[in-house]
Amino acid sequence: MKAIILSGGKGTRLRPLTYTGAKQLVPVANKPILWYGIEDLVKAGITDIGIIISPETGAEVQAKTGDGERFGAHISYILQEKPAGLAHAVKVAQPFLGDAPFVMYLGDNLVQSDLNIFLDEFKTKQLDALTLLCNVPNPTAFGVAEVDQSGRVLRLVEKPKIPRSNLALVGIYLFNNSIHEAIANIQPSARGELEITDAIQYLINHGNQVEARQIQGWWLDTGKKDDLLEANRVILDTCLVAANHGEVDNQSQIIGRVRIGERSKIKNCTIRGPVVIGEDCDIENCFIGPYSSIADQVVILNADLEHSVLLQGAKVLNIQQRIVDSLIGQRAQIKEAPQRPRAVRLMIGDDSQVELA
Ligand code: G1P
Repeated sequence: MKAIILSGGKGTRLRPLTYTGAKQLVPVANKPILWYGIEDLVKAGITDIGIIISPETGAEVQAKTGDGERFGAHISYILQEKPAGLAHAVKVAQPFLGDAPFVMYLGDNLVQSDLNIFLDEFKTKQLDALTLLCNVPNPTAFGVAEVDQSGRVLRLVEKPKIPRSNLALVGIYLFNNSIHEAIANIQPSARGELEITDAIQYLINHGNQVEARQIQGWWLDTGKKDDLLEANRVILDTCLVAANHGEVDNQSQIIGRVRIGERSKIKNCTIRGPVVIGEDCDIENCFIGPYSSIADQVVILNADLEHSVLLQGAKVLNIQQRIVDSLIGQRAQIKEAPQRPRAVRLMIGDDSQVELA
């Protein structure tokens, strides 16, 4: 069994963060989203992994993720020249995949479920395709499946205007080699892409064994700011292990599950977990509230924040109002004058959002 993880795309819904980086490298609880998928696959015993990259962000994905050694995997990188659809990505990966059965994993998806259960079913039932489904309130935003009582898929429609069920296709699929012939026989959709849903529908129409299973637990598609904050909350809630590798002075109070990275200095702060703080951070005279993730080399002085994600090298200085529900990009700076400010001075890039709540 092999796997491909799709890590191309432009990440338009996470702009401006994705102007300067791949959306799959945006961290959740201080770890790139993409890495959760790699770890899930390795846990399921799949170590031969191809990551599909784009010309825009491929080098960054490759530099950060490496050859797979740190995950106990072997990672190959496969360039998809243009974002021409999920089925197109499989086509590009065909030389890597050969005739092997494989998992296709979308690199911006996070799931709680253990993949082993689905792999076992796929193998013992000798299915041609197994798709994972999740009950969602907004099915029009996804591929939607119609399934009979035995789990057999009857029909799949990509982003239907009038959905026939609430069952969205989760971005994890299991295929055997019959998918390649299906892909060779489909045409681009109205949005000009080779859709994986159309390829799976082709399998269904040609009598192949296509089944679906509903996942238990959460599924997070991290495409937008609020989804990302939610993913951060869920991961901190369920996975964070407390540890202090930094320096915390005796004026500070650490409450609940808090993880502090090496060489980070915490002075005169209250930190109420779950909170993760990376390496080489300076945090002084602050309250850091639950569900905050602070990446490496962040400086926070005289400020209060909670339920927020700060990326590498961000600076927050002398802010009187509490910062909540915020996502602050790499090296971004927020600072206030020493006295109560009478004006706001801004230098804000394209597509930024500032809410003075
Ligand atoms: C893709 C698939 C869709 C699936 C979704 C899951 O959509 O085409 O069927 O439900 O991923 O994240 P996209 O993210 O390309 O809009």
